[in-house]
Amino acid sequence: MTTILITGGHSGIGLAAVRALAAEKVDLVLAGRSPDRMRAVADELRAGHGVSATTLAVDTSSLASVRSAAGQVDRKLDAVLLNAGGRFDGDVTFSADGYETTFATNCLGHFLLVELLLPRLSDHGRVVWTASGTHDPDSMDGRLVGKAVEPDAVALSRAATLSAGKRYSTSKLCTVMYAYEMDRRLRRHGSKVSSIAYDPGSVPETGLLRGLPGPARRLATSAAMKWVSRRIGVTTSDTAFSGASLAALAAGPDYAGVTGKYFQAQENNLSAVRSARVSYDEQRAAKLWDDSKRLVHLRPDEEPAQLR
Ligand SMILES: NC(=O)c1ccc[n+]([C@@H]2O[C@H](COP(=O)([O-])OP(=O)(O)OC[C@H]3O[C@@H](n4cnc5c(N)ncnc54)[C@H](OP(=O)(O)O)[C@@H]3O)[C@@H](O)[C@H]2O)c1
Repeated sequence: MTTILITGGHSGIGLAAVRALAAEKVDLVLAGRSPDRMRAVADELRAGHGVSATTLAVDTSSLASVRSAAGQVDRKLDAVLLNAGGRFDGDVTFSADGYETTFATNCLGHFLLVELLLPRLSDHGRVVWTASGTHDPDSMDGRLVGKAVEPDAVALSRAATLSAGKRYSTSKLCTVMYAYEMDRRLRRHGSKVSSIAYDPGSVPETGLLRGLPGPARRLATSAAMKWVSRRIGVTTSDTAFSGASLAALAAGPDYAGVTGKYFQAQENNLSAVRSARVSYDEQRAAKLWDDSKRLVHLRPDEEPAQLR
C-alpha cells in the first residue's frame, strides 16, 4: 500500500491531487491548519475510495508546529508533497518565530518538515516541492506577479519592503532551489529518494488569491483574464489537471526515479522544462540551504545524514 503525506490537501490543487491519488488506492495523510476542512476531506476519501485518510495538524509558518507534526508521523511514507502555500497581500506580517510570513509559510516550514520526515521516507520515496512559474524573473509569469529577487534566506526572513508579489515569487524561486539542492545532497550520499519541483501553472480559481481585494480577485478569475493570460504567455492550467499532475508526479510509474527536475503543467500537458537561470546556481542554493538550517535552528540530531 502506498502512503503519501501532503500539506494543504484539503483545498485547491492539493484537493484535486488527493482525490486522484485516493482513486488509485493511495493512503493519505492530510497535513494542514484547518482541522474541520481536513476531516471532511478525509471522510470523503475514506467513504469514496476505501483508503486510509488521516489528518495531521501543522501550520507551516510555525517551526514549533512543524516539529510537533513531524514527531507524530510514525508510518513509512512513499512521498511527501510540499504543496501548501500562500500569497500574503496587505501589510507585511511576521510569523511566531519572527520571520516574514510568506518566506516562513512557503519555505522555512517545508524545509524543516522535509528534513524531519526524510527518515520516514521509503528507499525510493519522492519529494515534490510545489513551486510556481512566477519564480522565473525572465518569464511572463514572473514579470506579472513581481520579479523574484536574490534568494537570500536571511534577507527574505526579514523582508519588510518587498511587494507581496515579489515575496511570493522569490519564495517560489527558493522552493525550486531547495528541490535541486536536496537532489544534489541525496545523490552525493547514494540515496534513491527523489526530489523534484513542480509548477501547477496559473489556476486563479483556487484559494490562492483570497487575500486580493474583491474586484481584483473577480478580475483575476474571469474568463476574459484567462483568455488574455494565454495570449500574453502566462502558463495557464486548471485545478483538475494541475491536481492530477501532482498526483502523477507523486505516485505515477512514469515519474519513478525522476529527480532534480522542474515540471510544469500547462494546457493539459505536464513536462519537464528549464527553470529560471539563477535556480541552477549551485553556490547560491547551498547557501540558501545552510542559511535555512540556521533559521529553523536545525539540531545535529535532527539532520539526516543524506542531507548533510
Ligand atoms: N493557484 C495558482 O495559480 C498557483 C500557481 C502556481 C503555484 N501554486 C501553488 O500551488 C500550491 C497550492 O495552492 P492552491 O492554488 O491550491 O491554493 P489554495 O487553495 O489556497 O491552497 C493552499 C493550501 O495551503 C494551505 N496553507 C496556507 N498557509 C498554510 C500554513 N501556514 N500552514 C499550513 N497550510 C497552509 C492552505 O490551507 P488553509 O485552507 O488552512 O489556508 C491551503 O490548503 C501553493 O503552494 C501555491 O503557491 C498555485
